Amino acid sequence: MKKYDQISFPQGFFWGATTASYQVEGDNHNDWSEWEKSEERMSDLRARGLIEKYGLENFISGQASDHYVRFQEDFKIAKELGHNATRISIEWSRIEPEEGKFNGEEIEHYKKVVAILRELGIEPFVTLWHYTLPVWFSRKGGFKNENSPEIFARYCAYVVEKLGDRVRFWVTINEPELYADDSYLGGVHPPQEKSRMSQLLVIYNLIRAHCKAYEVIKELSRNAKVGIAKNNQYFEAYQNKWANRLRKRFKDWWWNFYFLNQINDYQDFIGLNHYFYHRINCGFNENRTQKVSDMGWELYPEAIYHVLMDLTRYHKPIYILENGLADAKDEKRAWFIYETLKNIHKAINEGVDVKGYLHWSLLDNFEWREGFWPKFGLLEIDRETFERKIRPSANFYRDVCIANGITEGIVDAHQSLIAPEFSNTSTQQREEG
Ligand code: FCB
Repeated sequence: MKKYDQISFPQGFFWGATTASYQVEGDNHNDWSEWEKSEERMSDLRARGLIEKYGLENFISGQASDHYVRFQEDFKIAKELGHNATRISIEWSRIEPEEGKFNGEEIEHYKKVVAILRELGIEPFVTLWHYTLPVWFSRKGGFKNENSPEIFARYCAYVVEKLGDRVRFWVTINEPELYADDSYLGGVHPPQEKSRMSQLLVIYNLIRAHCKAYEVIKELSRNAKVGIAKNNQYFEAYQNKWANRLRKRFKDWWWNFYFLNQINDYQDFIGLNHYFYHRINCGFNENRTQKVSDMGWELYPEAIYHVLMDLTRYHKPIYILENGLADAKDEKRAWFIYETLKNIHKAINEGVDVKGYLHWSLLDNFEWREGFWPKFGLLEIDRETFERKIRPSANFYRDVCIANGITEGIVDAHQSLIAPEFSNTSTQQREEG
């Protein structure tokens, strides 16, 4: 009897991994780098005993993963790992350190980044803004400023003018709803506001900013494909009760679809970031917590199938731009990728036009308020020497990328990695940071 059915992905499928400038580059100066050293942040960390637990350096991005210096080495390793695509982000504060003044040397840096990717045959997916703001812009109120869409579009125009002939895929904004929530409603990211009004205003301006940027990019680069990276979650109605179905509908509408609906005439593809699964019950998230990542996030690979099926309503190609887990011991990553890919494949078989999978992340990096302790990388990074080491799961993923699918041989070769025994308990919790 055949023990495994081969899974093949569509021809030309993009395989790779994602990074974001502030999380990996090092030596950036922006609203985050100022906030993470502020007295407000420090006293909060001290009060929660987190400095004692992780050390102050955990929370200071500093040299990050030294990727600004080592990008060539990193992309060469990505190539060896079979990747044919990479998502990077451009650091706005480097390009426009003062309002309206653009830094030619920094754009040269990103030209080199794109050039090496092209040389290696790796398709660049370029994000124009991934959470961090130039200091001058944050002082003007950031995306609360009514002129923020024009200001953002001006920066986008500059970058696209310089890089447009070498980049096909542009991602204007990363996870707008998460940004507005964490920074303006939950108050856990800079500028730490807790205001519903501010959150809604920021979402409104981000919608305008994306649409403006879309127009500008399309005008400058006729072949460009433009979208956003949208964090969509799977909300399951617990026991399919009607009250839970109602709650699910609301959650889906606001969290998953609202932003996409607003920008639907201004996107060429759907960029999906996917991490979360919630069972909705009486206002509580009744998660099964069977398997969790080091951050306590539930690992439920079936969720991506449902999220993808729900996105068919837009009739656009879908690129998965982020998906992954914090797993310092690399015990669950290969299993998680394997199971996730089977679910993506199931969705493709049922007609969903998925065109790529980019894992979060290529490198261990600075995970925002949690700092450095969560380890998301296919490559492990020594925090002292910055030496890169390939994690075993990255080799499993390499074989999949090269085969453009999962064969019986791959399953046999990586059996112990993709069918691990692991415990039910999380070692860390999301709140830490
Ligand atoms: C996403 C962010 C990304 C990273 C992953 C773990 O929400 O876009 O920068 O932090 O989560």
